[in-house]
Amino acid sequence: MSSHALADALQLSPHPEGGFFRRTHENPLTVPVPFPTSDPTDKTRLASTSIHYLLTKDSPIGHFHRNKSLTYHFHHRGRGRYRLIHEDGRVEEYIVGGDIWAGEKLMWVVEGGVWKSSAVEGAEELLISEVVVPGFEFKDHEFMRFEILKELVGDEKAREWNEFLKA
Ligand code: GUN
Repeated sequence: MSSHALADALQLSPHPEGGFFRRTHENPLTVPVPFPTSDPTDKTRLASTSIHYLLTKDSPIGHFHRNKSLTYHFHHRGRGRYRLIHEDGRVEEYIVGGDIWAGEKLMWVVEGGVWKSSAVEGAEELLISEVVVPGFEFKDHEFMRFEILKELVGDEKAREWNEFLKA
């Protein structure tokens, strides 16, 4: 099945980070916000939200961003590379995919506050699901800027990774 057919079958829409998504579940339970917010009246979140997320040859990059919530990721098909920058500046890269014998990950967790980008690697697409805890809100989300990337990883790496920043 082509990546287009996959996006159609799953009724995915373009995601602002790149790629395509559809929210598949909202946990109606609300929980107290477990992290600082700028608005003192902003006190609760849905307990969790879930999406399908697809990267394709046409839209192969999930651009660097971070979220205050933690995200569980689950592989369905294809192959991708995750690039993470932890709050202390530590860089981590890994491959997600079905070849567990080669060390590819079927499931991975990105803690709140960690910068993340994803990209299709050596495949037609990458199809995953994500569970965000507590639930996803755009106000908890931030896109990476070149100046911040440079501070975190230095000039050379920032220029190398410029393609993973949202233009
Ligand atoms: N990224 C992870 N979960 C979500 C979600 O529910 N909505 C949006 N727009 N992006 C997400």
